[in-house]
Amino acid sequence: CSLSPWSHIMLPLSCIESSKKSSNTVPVLWKCSMCTFDNHETMVYCEMCGVFRESFVKSGKDVSIKESVNGISNNSGTSALSNSDSTKMPAKTSTTNFDGDSERKYASTSHDKVNSTQLASVGSSSSTGKKKQPVIFDNNVPIERTTQLNADHFQLKEDQGSSRASSSAQNKGSMETLSSDISQLSIERNNVNVAQPLPEEYKPEGWMLADQESGVLSQLNLAIVGHVDSGKSTLSGRLLHLLGKISKRDMHKNEKEAKEKGKGSFAYAWAMDESTEERARGITMTVAVAYLETKKYRVVLLDSPGHKDFVPNLISGATQADAAILVVDASTGSFESGMDGEGGKSVGQTKEHAQLIRSFGVEQLIVAVNKMDAIGYSKDRLEFIKVRLGSFLRSCNFRDSAVTWIPLSAVENQNLIKSPSDARFTSWYQGSCLLDAIDSLQLPSRDVSKPLILPICDVIKSQSTGQLAAFGKLETGAIRNGSKVLVLPCEEVATVKTIERDSSSCSIARAGDNVAVILQGIDGSRIIPGGILCHPGFPVPVANYLELKIRVLDIAIPILIGYQVEFHIHHVKEAARVTKIVALLDKTGKPSKTAPRFLKSKQNAVVQVTLDQAVCVEEFSKCRALGRAFLRSSGSTIAVGIVTKIMRQDQH
Ligand code: GTP
Ligand code: MG
Repeated sequence: CSLSPWSHIMLPLSCIESSKKSSNTVPVLWKCSMCTFDNHETMVYCEMCGVFRESFVKSGKDVSIKESVNGISNNSGTSALSNSDSTKMPAKTSTTNFDGDSERKYASTSHDKVNSTQLASVGSSSSTGKKKQPVIFDNNVPIERTTQLNADHFQLKEDQGSSRASSSAQNKGSMETLSSDISQLSIERNNVNVAQPLPEEYKPEGWMLADQESGVLSQLNLAIVGHVDSGKSTLSGRLLHLLGKISKRDMHKNEKEAKEKGKGSFAYAWAMDESTEERARGITMTVAVAYLETKKYRVVLLDSPGHKDFVPNLISGATQADAAILVVDASTGSFESGMDGEGGKSVGQTKEHAQLIRSFGVEQLIVAVNKMDAIGYSKDRLEFIKVRLGSFLRSCNFRDSAVTWIPLSAVENQNLIKSPSDARFTSWYQGSCLLDAIDSLQLPSRDVSKPLILPICDVIKSQSTGQLAAFGKLETGAIRNGSKVLVLPCEEVATVKTIERDSSSCSIARAGDNVAVILQGIDGSRIIPGGILCHPGFPVPVANYLELKIRVLDIAIPILIGYQVEFHIHHVKEAARVTKIVALLDKTGKPSKTAPRFLKSKQNAVVQVTLDQAVCVEEFSKCRALGRAFLRSSGSTIAVGIVTKIMRQDQH
């Protein structure tokens, strides 16, 4: 039972109780008649758009949708490579990292970062020798997709016969009457039409569904988020050190160098903050990836930057998270800045990150109340923080039962991997330590039975082979050595040569795994961050005309038609503008009859956006990870939303 990030309606107790009881059984889902979101059976309204289930019950049997995908037409004659002159189009970028220093960091992996020379060959250039320039997406990749509805488009229902329809057994027993009318999908490649009949239904092969290889722990992708300087990197570095992931030699080196630079307190953070600029400024700028093992999980730590200038990097990296640790600084004044911004006049990153992470679909949260040493391990201060932040988290629709509060001190190593030892702490605290809280997290269900989708977070170089590898998390499906994959947006088919998880190679990767994939049969320069590896028979659309359902956050300036925004989706950022405000949505998700002229804070609406350059995107109902969008402007997130329709230019 999960809650809508948009709804203001309190969850009935019965829902919470029932979710507790059923946590170990396969949940029965009902599909929202408006946005097709799969909701838990106990929800009375849709988690995503707020539509009441009653309306579904009344109209569900009558409404069916015929979705006719007439074709996806891609012109790769003007590929990403041909538009790579970032000086001509500085705003038209699609990349993993957006703020200059763009290298992604791999603590304890066998991969090197791709250096500037190699990046030049993937369509990017480097001005500093250290920085990876954004990769440019092709603007001339039109999408042709027709969606015919027999009801108005607000009563969208998923086509069960669709190639992307969930094959999950969870959907069985649904009361929907669904029909399928997918005719054909055609890909225009280099001005040649390659017609590909779309298979009726995707059938996963046996090896894809098999249980985890014996002895291999399940992978948990854990984002570390929170306000600047709250201690995220110090906590991550300290955990790695305590669990034997940092050698004595490296730790000693970090301590010595940090002290020499007058930044002794950052020694643990330097395990994550590896670039010269990050170390000099004492802040994290890009998401650092590190691996550690608990009793239950192989954890992929995604240590995110807290500074507000680097929120786009957080969006790109932490969007892969299955769960998150929200680190807050308990010290007097610092917790308050995290909530209310500097001077108490804006939104601090504790709030913004919590909101974002919930919009990524993350439901389970550990709140690490750090720097308890700085407040003398005061129980009262912890209680104060719990009340204030707790009520905000509730308003973001985190369930109380899915939030675990862990007071700790990263610097004094209190309550990280074992119970605290400081008498001021032990006198009142008998709860779990952080490591136990991580082991108590539940893995979200994995869509292994759907066709492969792997959004490329980064392109890295394998130390062992020297080849470029696509790095990212499999959102759906599975691959193994020898699998054929379609690489987007270049539309070339390649073969999986090697899969690497952390520093070791593995034969199979399934949904949820974060891996590096080395491909053969394709020039490495064709693989770009923000691209996709997918099943050749089930290509992901590449589009720049989209309809979204959005929730407007706190904004100072109303959103008008023509409003310029930064559009963020999986690992891509793209310049865009709002081209139409279709309707306002009330609390039940019902669209207004007339379109408003502008949107203000806390309103829900349907809008259309035009992106400067096409991106790999999917409707939320078909792939959540590719259908979650964020609109940002002037350094703030102004709206969160989902993609409800991919449109042709003439539908716009
Ligand atoms: P950004 O990534 O830039 O947002 O910062 P961060 O959240 O990663 O913080 P970082 O780990 O870089 O630590 C910032 C400062 O807080 C450093 O000086 C740390 O030594 C200090 N710090 C971290 N944890 C603790 C703690 O438990 N107690 C105290 N007193 N200081 C801490
Ligand atoms: Mg940091």
